Amino acid sequence: MKRQLLAVCFAFAAMLMLVGVSTTANAKDLSGQLEIFSWWAGDEGPALQALIDLYSKANPNVEVVNATVTGGSGVNAKAVLKTRMLGGEPPDSFQVHAGQELIGTWVEADRMEDLTFLFKEQGLMDAFPDGLVKLIGTDEGIWSMPVNIHRSNVVWYVPGNLEKWGVKAPTSWDEFFAIAPKLKEKGIVPLALAQNWTANHLWESVALAAVGPDNWDALWSGKLAFDSPEGVKAWELFGKVLEYTNDDASSLSWQQATDMVVDGRAAFNVMGDWAAGYLSTTKKLVPGKGFGWAATFGTDGNFMFLADSFGLPKGAPNRDNVLAWLSLLGSKDGSDAFNPLKGSISARTDSDLSKYNDYAKSASADFGKDIIVGSLAHGVTANEGFMNDFAAVMEMFLKSRDAAAAASAAQQIAVKNKISM
Ligand code: GAL
Repeated sequence: MKRQLLAVCFAFAAMLMLVGVSTTANAKDLSGQLEIFSWWAGDEGPALQALIDLYSKANPNVEVVNATVTGGSGVNAKAVLKTRMLGGEPPDSFQVHAGQELIGTWVEADRMEDLTFLFKEQGLMDAFPDGLVKLIGTDEGIWSMPVNIHRSNVVWYVPGNLEKWGVKAPTSWDEFFAIAPKLKEKGIVPLALAQNWTANHLWESVALAAVGPDNWDALWSGKLAFDSPEGVKAWELFGKVLEYTNDDASSLSWQQATDMVVDGRAAFNVMGDWAAGYLSTTKKLVPGKGFGWAATFGTDGNFMFLADSFGLPKGAPNRDNVLAWLSLLGSKDGSDAFNPLKGSISARTDSDLSKYNDYAKSASADFGKDIIVGSLAHGVTANEGFMNDFAAVMEMFLKSRDAAAAASAAQQIAVKNKISM
């Protein structure tokens, strides 16, 4: 009898333990803190704040610490995160791009918790496109919760300004080169550029136009060398494009380059569609009237994408609070509160498009029909090692404008970082 009782107790305890590790706690029971680490500071903050508000409403006893490190595309945040992760002080949850930035860095280093149980528990196994799940997963697990899909290859302009200057939005770089000198003569910067990461951002759009989507993919699967004739062509075209950018680029934030377009100091700016969030949420401009957009010249029919996601690092101080956070990010309500403000589309396949503006509706339609390729500048195609080395190659090119030398240096770093043989 005693033995039987013991066995029952043991089974019950084991069940509780199982439940404890694999399910989320009741929202009302949650307390303590939740530190969310990202680079969505200042003008980039409203969409994140909408999520935090929803979280706080559902979990009133949790104190949310919104830890941001300013700097577009995470230029500064990623370095701070690295120090904290390596120092054994991970934030509860942090922003990370789906793709190699996540898998080739934190997953490879065994610093993340597998979220498969949470995906199952929240009914998320089929909520996202297959291609995206492949980017946040490995054979061993699913490693982050995606919050959005951003498009990288977009060019922004103000329709009224183009009309005033008597030009149309080009569809190819040749068309751009035909109107750029005329704009310059009028004292208008043809293409606004900001600090160096935005040069990487511009490069990926230009390279896609130069080599096409198949070759773009082939660069990342190691089938096409960066110093091939196609690779050199990308740098040559990029060099030509740079001739029509502003001299003070390196001192500007991405928002300041967008402002140049809004203020009529520049005609175009190539930026991801967080610019749509900035233009509509912060600047209160109406899509289609206050600002216009097109696929970056020569890339129509291609959707260069990236996705922001959040993960659960091993050793996160407030694990249960993180699970509630990640569940919210993956939910339809969370996603449709965040993305309309952010400029991105939902990562879920069932989002409520009536909540989105005309820009997002057009991005969503393109995502459904375009050729999808991954972004280099925002973590999809290459690991951090390559990204850091690529920044140095870019620095070199911005000074030397030597396409052959840049292509050869890019090939060397591709070999070093195991992208190319
Ligand atoms: C990207 C990120 C976007 C946006 C942008 C500018 O890397 O995915 O969500 O924040 O940087 O900072």
